[in-house]
Amino acid sequence: MIAVEELKRQAGDRAADYIRDGMVIGLGSGSTARYATLCIGQKLRSGELHDIVGVPTSEETATLARAEGIPLTTLEQHGHLDITIDGADEVDPDFNVIKGLGGFLLREKIVAYATRQEIIVVDESKLVELLGTKSPVPVEVIRFGWRNTQTALERTGARPVLRQANGKPYLTDEGNYILDCHYPGIAEPCTLSTQIKAIPGVVETGLFLGMVHCVVVAAADGIRIMER
Ligand code: A5P
Repeated sequence: MIAVEELKRQAGDRAADYIRDGMVIGLGSGSTARYATLCIGQKLRSGELHDIVGVPTSEETATLARAEGIPLTTLEQHGHLDITIDGADEVDPDFNVIKGLGGFLLREKIVAYATRQEIIVVDESKLVELLGTKSPVPVEVIRFGWRNTQTALERTGARPVLRQANGKPYLTDEGNYILDCHYPGIAEPCTLSTQIKAIPGVVETGLFLGMVHCVVVAAADGIRIMER
């Protein structure tokens, strides 16, 4: 039995093979994408890769990338990215995903939107038939009036829970709250996404729909690549 951590490493390493010299890349967040960033850093140091610049999707990833010697840039300097490698909390058969349990969904979605090829790295436990089965949908909201936003989210069928960290509301990199919205399975993710985004106070949802081009799945019997 291969440990989950080893599966995450395999997925991250395999995704890093997609990176070519001269690319502008998005550096994802979370424990699986971390392995891709580590691998890219190692390839740069060994001379296997050259002239890479990266846009980090979180302060955490920025710190890691700097430590790994990966040159960083911004979307203002490079508005179009070749490839982003990022993790996910759930992936459905149509390549729709839930992201944001790590708390970085807003920057992750802005980076994904600017990316030609979004590669998701997961271990097989993240694959689901129906979104919402295992993971809540994290929704980033403005702090002002957040209880009203919570009530409005309840009307979409959710049980929204204010995320906590160290006994206080969790604050995102942009200084917002996250409401983790529990649904009993999401039959129509596009409709739900539209409903959530229409609520004043909602900044962004963790539903990434139609944005993913490739999923690298690390399973006990090996790596599986799903492309569309
Ligand atoms: C960060 O906000 C998330 O979108 C992560 O990408 C997601 O939670 C997956 O993280 P792990 O690879 O740590 O499970």
